[in-house]
Formats: sequence, structure tokens, C-alpha cells
Amino acid sequence: MLTVVVLAAGRGVRMRSGIPKVLHEAAGRPLLDRVLSAARSLPGARIVVVVGAGREAISRHLSDAGDVTLAVQEPQLGTGDAVRVALEAAGGSDEVLVLSGDVPLLREATLARLLEERRRARASVAFLTTTPADPTGYGRIVRDASGGFVRIVEEKDASDAERRIREVNAGVYAFDGAFVSRALPRLSKENAQGEYYLTDVLSLREEGARAVPVQVEDASEVMGVNSRRELAAVDALLRTRAAGAAMDAGATLLRPETITLDETVAFEPDVVVEPFASLFGATRVAKGSRIGQGAVIRDSVLGAGVTVRPYCVIESSRIGDGAVVGPFARLREGTELAENVHIGNFVETKKARLAKGAKANHLTYLGDVEVGERTNVGAGVITCNYDGFAKHKTTIGKDVFVGSDVQLVAPVSVGDGAIVGAGTTVTQDVPADALATSRSPQANVPGYAPGYRERKSKKN
Ligand code: UD1
Ligand code: CA
Repeated sequence: MLTVVVLAAGRGVRMRSGIPKVLHEAAGRPLLDRVLSAARSLPGARIVVVVGAGREAISRHLSDAGDVTLAVQEPQLGTGDAVRVALEAAGGSDEVLVLSGDVPLLREATLARLLEERRRARASVAFLTTTPADPTGYGRIVRDASGGFVRIVEEKDASDAERRIREVNAGVYAFDGAFVSRALPRLSKENAQGEYYLTDVLSLREEGARAVPVQVEDASEVMGVNSRRELAAVDALLRTRAAGAAMDAGATLLRPETITLDETVAFEPDVVVEPFASLFGATRVAKGSRIGQGAVIRDSVLGAGVTVRPYCVIESSRIGDGAVVGPFARLREGTELAENVHIGNFVETKKARLAKGAKANHLTYLGDVEVGERTNVGAGVITCNYDGFAKHKTTIGKDVFVGSDVQLVAPVSVGDGAIVGAGTTVTQDVPADALATSRSPQANVPGYAPGYRERKSKKN
């Protein structure tokens, strides 16, 4: 039986945050979720997450994760103490893999290799090391003259000479279960931080420690997140990878370094994304679409050949093939645009379904509405969907012409082929093919203007 222990009880002081460190997001996903995905790649593993500081928030976050056991570490006396608490909760185990909730970029293949190396060497522990450009903050790997592993020294306990060592501990360990249970109670907390260091277990020779360092080539894979700066570095790396994947999938990114992508965003070939666009969450963009400069798109599905002009904000919406949106349009949740719909500038939609070829080109609010095929919604049209208490629906049929500056006071419907005159306040249903107007008659006073201008200019 393999137990995977994920350490997530620390306070994360260096983040200066009210949110537990492991719930901070990199490229739109909490650090902890990334580590758990790696843990879940190991078949048959039992997963224990050690929580302490901020445990309410973490428990809430994991409330749907049926495959995870929580172990509470209170107070937080160090990484060694945390693993002890986890193993008390888990019971006996042949093998124990320890991951840190703040080391989010580990690849599944590396974990498999680590487990394999320990088994092959019949070692009491195998652990990952790497040699980053800047080792500051990490525990250093002390080796003897012949290169054999001696011990890990934390930066705060290290001598000047030890600080110059560039090989560091990644904080990822595969233990023999019997060994680690036996060794943990032997730890002491006589060190700079007054904590039980898990790292000290690796050099407990009297408990039979035989530790095998496993080197990771790419130091970024085992980057730890202790500060906002490190979080930003991980975020940037993931987003650069996402941009690379988008290009590999056939998307053209103009000035890719300015484009912000979650790795969950999917592109078909021949999409063009203009500078400074941001695409997040479960967003998919089909072939030949163009995303304009500065657009922000979240959890939305765009069909083929869609044009999103610059500076649109689109959330939880579906946009059909060939539709044109923006510039400066806001599509809110539940917007569904069928093929070839046109939404122009300064148009806001919410729970709005526009059928094939419908148009709303200027300055309009469409909320809780259905608009039929080929219907034209003029400039300045507003659905008055809220009466101060509840939302109401507006239904507009197909081939309708809604003139400019019309208010539709919901609930209300406009039948197929009807015409609503400019400036009308629609408070009653409009039958199919009818003309609806609610204008007061216009009065012209002939020759009035020149006298008016004369009076006004004398006063000043
Ligand atoms: C740790 C290692 C260091 C290594 C580095 C790699 C120790 C003593 N040091 O240092 O050698 O180079 O990781 O990233 O292990 N945690 C608990 N309970 C505690 C303390 C910590 O669950 O009482 C958790 C933290 O939430 C975190 C992880 O353990 O997820 C590591 O703790 P952290 O304080 O970040 O250790 P580092 O100083 O980074
Ligand atoms: Ca850390």
C-alpha cells in the first residue's frame, strides 16, 4: 500500500496573506489542486493532506474530494511533525510518498521515477534534488568528498560554505514505510527554526537511513512557492507553456508575451489572438476565429469564424459560427448567440438567446430575452427586465424590426414580423406583423427658432 502525504499545514508567512498558501492560484488553478493531480496519477495510492493553518478554507475547498483524508496538525511543529500526524491518520503503509502543497509543477513521470529508484536501490528513502540558478531559501545537499549524500542543511542553519552549495532539496521524498515510522519519533527540534525537520530523517544512520538522491534536470519542475514573487514566477511559467500549447494547436498569438491564457483554454487551428487578450477557464475557440486586442473571455465557447473585436468582456456564453461581437461589448452569463449574430459596441447581454442572423449593433441592454431569426434590434433598445423585485422575460419573434430607443417592459412579447417604432415604450404584447408605437404627437412651431436665438443672445 502506498500512502501519499501532501504537506499543507504551514502558515505560509512569507505570502503575507489571509488565504492559505496552497489555495493561491497559478494560471487559474490552486497550487494544492496541481499537487493532488500528480498524487492521483499514482494507481492505488491513499492520499492524506495535512492541514493546520487555514484548515477551514482548505477543508471547504476539498469537500468534494472523496478520495482525500485530512489530518490536522495543530500546532505546526515542522515538516517532520506533519508527516508523523499524517501517518497516525493513515495507519501502517509499505511506502510513503511525501509531497509539498507548495511545490506545484512536479510531473507525474518524475514521481513514478522517484518511487522506482527507491525500490530498485532498496533504500530507506529516495528524494528529489535539483541545481537551480539561485538556491536561496532551499535546504542544501551536503555531500562527502566522493559525492555520497551526507545530510540536508536548511538555509537558516547553514554555514557560509554550506550556503554556497547549489544543489538543493526539492521537498519530495519516497520512504520505506517501516523506516519512516521508526525514524520520525527520533527527530529533535534543536535547530534555527525550533522545528522537527523531515529532512533530518534522511541522515538518521542509527535508524538505518540509506538515502538516495534523485536529480531532476529541469529545476523549474520542483520550484517551491513561498512568496508572491515565487507564485508569480510559477504563474508566468505555466502561462508561457499554455501559450506554447496554443501555438502548437495552430493558433497565431500576436505578441504572445502579452496574452494571458489559462492552460484549460483550447484552440482549434487558424485562430488569431491579438495582443493583451486574456482567456480563462473552460474556454474553447473553434477554427478561424479572431479574438481582438484586450478582450477578456472566461468559460465560453466560440464557434468557427467568430470575430470578437477589441475590448469585449465575455463570460459563460456560447457564440455561434460566424458571429461578430464588439468592439466594447459585454456578454454576461447565459448569453447564446446563434450563427451570424451581430452584437455591436456598447451592447450588454445577459441570459439572452439570439437566433441566427439577429443583430443588435449599438448601445443596447438585452437581459432575459429571446430574439428570433434575422430580427434587428435598433440603437438604444433596453429590455426592462427587473421591476425592483423579480426578473421578467422578453420574447421577440423572427424578422422583427425594433426601432431605436425602445424600452421593452417585461414580461412582454413581440410577434414575428412586427415593427416597433422608434422611441416606443412597449408595455403590452405586440401581435405578429403589427406596428407598435407609443409616441405623443409632434408639434412644429413654424419660424420659432430665430426669435429664440435673438432673445437668448441679448441676455448674455
Ligand atoms: C522545505 C524543506 C527544504 C526544501 C524546501 C523545498 C524542511 C525542513 N525543509 O523548506 O529542505 O528545500 O521545502 O521546497 O522540510 N508544513 C506543514 N507543517 C509544518 C510545516 C510545514 O504541513 O509544521 C508544510 C507547508 O505548508 C509546506 C511544506 O510543508 O507545504 C513545506 O514547508 P515550508 O515551510 O514551505 O518549508 P521550506 O522552508 O520551503
Ligand atoms: Ca516551501
